[in-house]
Amino acid sequence: MGKIILTGDRPTGRLHLGHYVGSLRRRVELQESGEFERIFIMIADAQALTDNADNPEKVRQNIIEVALDYLSVGLDPNKSTLFIQSQIPELCELAFYYMNLVTVQRLQRNPTVKAEIQLRGFAENNTEGDTQQRQGIPVGFFTYPISQAADITAFKATTVPAGEDQEPMIEQTREIVHKFNTVYGPALVEPEILLPENAVCMRLPGTDGKAKMSKSLCNCIYLSDSADEIKKKVMGMYTDPDHLRVEDPGKVEGNMVFTYLDAFSRPEHFPKYLPDYPSLEELKAHYRRGGLGDVKVKKFLIAVLNEMLEPFRERRKYYEGRIGEVYEILRAGSEAAREVAAETLADVKRAMKIDYFDDKELIASQAEHFAHKE
Ligand code: TRP
Repeated sequence: MGKIILTGDRPTGRLHLGHYVGSLRRRVELQESGEFERIFIMIADAQALTDNADNPEKVRQNIIEVALDYLSVGLDPNKSTLFIQSQIPELCELAFYYMNLVTVQRLQRNPTVKAEIQLRGFAENNTEGDTQQRQGIPVGFFTYPISQAADITAFKATTVPAGEDQEPMIEQTREIVHKFNTVYGPALVEPEILLPENAVCMRLPGTDGKAKMSKSLCNCIYLSDSADEIKKKVMGMYTDPDHLRVEDPGKVEGNMVFTYLDAFSRPEHFPKYLPDYPSLEELKAHYRRGGLGDVKVKKFLIAVLNEMLEPFRERRKYYEGRIGEVYEILRAGSEAAREVAAETLADVKRAMKIDYFDDKELIASQAEHFAHKE
């Protein structure tokens, strides 16, 4: 059987460079590699609602943002099936059955769930006076790893290109598949995560250098940022606070401009935008020695980023003028995805022997049993 990709994103905001190096860039490469029988890219609106129940409008407005980001980076609806999670009801049904195969304790140990509970301020114990904490953990949020297992297995995905933070989800999915196949017979496929190629791409820090790029920290560069925004954000980037004068020696480690160059620059950028330096190594060496100012390196990074983002901006503009068409792409993708998910659901129900009406043997054997009763 061929290899199949399933991956996706929550529509809670525009996608940024962290998403790009963490997963999107790889998806486009895989799409062009021709190595995959099918590629499913999902906008995980139902998952986004697990911790945004009171803000459906945010999720609703961001579906188009994520779709535009997908199309602008080069995901091609003729090669990849782009769809919306909530439009595939089979996913809920699968999740419902998988719930019987997972313990509360196992979910409580899931590191991503744990971290997100902290981050969202859903705490287990009610703390007097803290309204956020008293809300508690929504059950749907708590169980989203199970729903994510449904997303992945519904498409018999072999490969999930995603960031490091998704590793516990894939692990949980593999456990569910293993348990299902052991209890009911082999119906599901164990997926593998495909992580970004290196540490910088795994966890791209924000422009402030503090933590991972994240909307809530306002340290993002968005894929849809204009050239002006790129300039402003790069010029304001965290570098080496001790590198006060050009002639001072500077630190490259923890300096966001160099971190981003590690993630985005390629050898061919040097002759084009910074011909005085043959490579990133030489540029770093000069910075370390002293005599190289931040502005020069920042200007280089701006050129590198804009070269990458310009084709994205053009494609985005094209689709922004055709929003109806984008929804049609998502509708067609959702229909195609639903067909595949329905087949898997039928396999699952057959394996679990809850396909009563199709089970001729069951009906015949019971007919016989009851006929002999008198
Ligand atoms: N959890 C992913 C995120 O936070 C989104 C997602 C939902 C996903 N279902 C998935 C990713 C299945 C990979 C596979 O962005």
